[in-house]
This record gives sequence, structure tokens and C-alpha cells, in this order.
Amino acid sequence: MNTNLSESPIDSVETELLTVFAVDAANEKDAKPEIRLMTQDDGLRRAAQAVLAGGEFRAEANEALLLHAPVGLKAKRLLLTGLGKAAKATVHDVRKAAGTAVRFAKPRAIREIAIVAPATYPVANDSDKGGAPRLDPKLAVRALVEGALVADFDPDTYRSDRKDRSVQSLQVVTGAGFDRAAAEAGLREGAIVGEAQNFTRSLVNEPGNRLTPTALGQRAAEMCREFGLSCEVHSTEKLRELKMGAFWSVAQGSDEPPALIVMRYEPQGVTSGPVLGLVGKGITFDTGGISIKPADNMEKMKYDMAGGAAMIGAMRAIALLQPKVRVIGIVCSAENMPSGKAQKPGDVQVAMPAGPDRPGKSIEIINTDAEGRLVLADGLTYAKQLGATHLIDAATLTGAISVALGVINAGVFSNDDATCAEFAEALKISGERFWRLPVDDDYRELIRSQIADMKNTGGRYGGAITAAMFLKEFVEETPWVHLDIAGVAWQDEAKPWVAAGPSGVAMRSILEWVRRYEG
Ligand code: BES
Ligand code: MN
Ligand code: ZN
Repeated sequence: MNTNLSESPIDSVETELLTVFAVDAANEKDAKPEIRLMTQDDGLRRAAQAVLAGGEFRAEANEALLLHAPVGLKAKRLLLTGLGKAAKATVHDVRKAAGTAVRFAKPRAIREIAIVAPATYPVANDSDKGGAPRLDPKLAVRALVEGALVADFDPDTYRSDRKDRSVQSLQVVTGAGFDRAAAEAGLREGAIVGEAQNFTRSLVNEPGNRLTPTALGQRAAEMCREFGLSCEVHSTEKLRELKMGAFWSVAQGSDEPPALIVMRYEPQGVTSGPVLGLVGKGITFDTGGISIKPADNMEKMKYDMAGGAAMIGAMRAIALLQPKVRVIGIVCSAENMPSGKAQKPGDVQVAMPAGPDRPGKSIEIINTDAEGRLVLADGLTYAKQLGATHLIDAATLTGAISVALGVINAGVFSNDDATCAEFAEALKISGERFWRLPVDDDYRELIRSQIADMKNTGGRYGGAITAAMFLKEFVEETPWVHLDIAGVAWQDEAKPWVAAGPSGVAMRSILEWVRRYEG
């Protein structure tokens, strides 16, 4: 999708579909809706007047109403798209509503659309006062473009009769009085971020036979070459050299060699300050290993590399947005398979040593299906060894996180309130939803082993927390944020603004977290 800005008067914009957002400014609950279009443009308001007076459009979130041949406009069609109640509307509603407009256009073979950048409408009467949403113009345009790009993605790449119905071009129409510089910056960022999210989603969507650890390494290397990052992809030999016994314990069961992907972003002139370590779980297929999973839904386990994909996508956006902070991205990729070479419950593994004079921690394997924490343990240790001062990891780590939080919020865990607060700030920009869970030391005893330093599972209760406790053993004192995205990385249900399937979750929030350490 091409994106561009148009400053032309709105009534003169030639397009197949012009979209304008609307809110309900009625303050009282259950009051008759008072529809306001998010524009200062009189021609546009006049064109919509009659239908708004008719009361068939209530401006509810993601409600869409189509008008053909709107009077006084050059546009062939006008789509009114709701943001909900004026007092509550945010840029995150704009992101969704822009997506809803694109997904309205796609099945109707509309290949070119224009969306009016949401501006505060003129206050009509007293009941509006204080109710008009004050949307930051840059963030609003950014969210609009992100939402449109993300909506344009469909996961049916392997259909032989696939019709490419993607929207080819998006004009963001700013109209008079809109801050041009803000709109330009928002458009640029929105395109970078939206494309990075779709790149993440395309990786997550790939089946296990096509996206092996080696293939994931190749995709990461290609991305790094294209966007000017340095990248190394290591395999078995390097794991051995680094004594990554935890990572290897998973990889050993598969005929597919593992990939240790290391991506580096080193902005010129930045030689001090934090080094951010991004560590992703890249299990390209999780059968469970010898503790094999039931057949029902096992096909879903192709998305067990969504955390790793989020890191690769974030590195892509970082390369383009160029924040002044050093970043190392590490993805630990392997296939978790049962075989004659696979590890067994009861085996004891020794993780990567944290330093020359420190032995690696020993792990009693209770369940070979708790493999994500094993690969991440060595990934986190390695990130520290490469100089990371702050760590963030993302992983489809536990089914327990969806038992706790459902498919709406992902889990966030942290050993450091200040670092976690930075992540919470990042969420305000990304609009993604994460809920913090504890990693108090009291939970540590749940992973105590009789014969080793720890075991790799902690029993039925608090499963997402014990997985996080396991990782905490390896990050030690380094400030760290852990994201468990197992419940939200794949969405079974389509929404008006996004297709079902790979969500690309966490990439945007990780990116914004990184940007908070700039300078
Ligand atoms: N990849 C799974 C977690 C998962 C479950 C991701 C559902 C996406 C959807 C992970 O490796 C796993 O199998 N976890 C086990 C841990 C258990 C053995 C302690 C789980 O959640 O059942
Ligand atoms: Mn597993
Ligand atoms: Zn897994």
C-alpha cells in the first residue's frame, strides 16, 4: 500500500472511497446520539447532513455507513466510520476505525481510498464542551496509517486461487488547518511501524515445514541486509562453543539445526549509555517433544516463534527510525521434536555459564514441553554477555497466561519497577494491552529441584509466573521485562479492523520501549 498526504480541499479529493471519522458527542448515558464528524470541513459536513439527520448512523466504535455519490464531493463514495463516545475516543480508536475502513474496501475491490485525518470538530453547542476528543495530530495520523496497513494484511498466502485484493493506495487528507509537519511525521512513522508489524505477522503465519530455524535465520539476515543492520546467524557449533546446554537440549531432538540469530543496531556516535537486549523465543514448531502435545490444535504450534518474529520486526522498525540507543536482538530458534535424540523427562541439563568463573546453572527437565524457557535462558545469558544492560524478552511461553488473562491482554513481568514503568509508557503509544503479573521470590520454591539448581516446570498453579521465575534465574540483577504473548499472538476471530490469524503483537510496544531509552 502506497501512502501519501493530500492537502487539497476535502470536497475536491478524487477517490473511490473517502472516509471520515465520527464521534457521538452526547454526554448523558442513553441520550440520543449527537453525531460529530472529525473535521472542520463544511463541504464534508454538508454532504453527510441528511443521512446524519435520519438517525441511522450512531457513530459507535467501528460502525460504518456508506453513501454513494455524496452531494458536493468529488469522491465517488463517502464512508462514515465511528469512533464511539467523543469523551472516550483516543488515537487507538482511530487505528481501529482506519482498519475498519480498509477492510470495508477490500472485499468490494476498492483499491484506492482516502481517509480524512481526524481534526477536532467545531463545537456545536454547550453539551459538546469538553467532549471533543483532543487527538495529538502526529499520533493520530500515525495510528491511522498503522491501522490501515495492518488491516490490508490477509493470511491466505497459500491459496492457489488467491485474489490480491489489497488496497493499493491510501491518501491521508489533512484539509485546512491541520499541522502539516505533524501529519508528515505521523505518516512516515505509521508506514514504518505498520509494515514492520505486517512483516512480523508474515513470519508468524508461515508453517513449520517452510519456516524452519534455518529459514527464519535467512529471513532475519535478509531483513538486516536490506535495512542496514549487522546480523550473524549461528548454529549447532556455536551453541556448543558457548556451552548453551539449555538451548541445545531442545534443539537436539530435531533433524533441523537450530539458529542463534544475533542482530545489531549501532547508531553512529553512540558509544555510551544503555545497551538494550531484545530476546525472542523462536520455536518454529512445538510438538512438546517427548512430553508430546495432544493432536487437537497442535497445528497452532507453528506460531511458537511469534516472540522471535516480534523482535525481528522491531529491529526492522528500529533500523528505519534510528533511535540514538544501541540495541542487540537475539532470537533462539529451534524445533521441539520427539525423536531418538530428544531429551527426556528427568534429564539434567546445564545452561550457558554466566561468566568465565561461573558454572552454568543445572536444570532438571520435568516436562520437555516447557522448552521456551530453556532456549530463552541461554538467549538472556548471551545478551548479557554481549553487553546488554537492560533486557526484554517476548515469548509464546505458557498456556497458563491465557487461563489468567484470556485473549485480550498479554502478560508482562519484571524484576525492576522503573524498567517496567518505561514499558507501561510505551503501551500508551502502541495501544497494545499487557497486564503485569508478579515475580515475587516466594514463587521460587515452586521450581526447586531435588537434584539440580531448578526444574523446568512448577506444577499446575501459577504456570505463567513459574515460567517467568525460571527466566528470572538467568537475568539475575539485570533490569528485565518479560512478555508472555501465548494468548494473543494468534487471534482465532477476525475483527472489523483486522483479519484472524497472526497478530504481530508486542512488536510495536517493544519498539516504543526501545525509543524511550534514546539519548
Ligand atoms: N508453546 C507453548 C505455550 C503455548 C500454548 C503457546 C498455547 C501458544 C498457545 C509452550 O512451550 C508450552 O508448551 N508450555 C507448557 C508449559 C507446561 C509444560 C509447564 C504449557 O503451557 O502447557
Ligand atoms: Mn512447549
Ligand atoms: Zn513452546
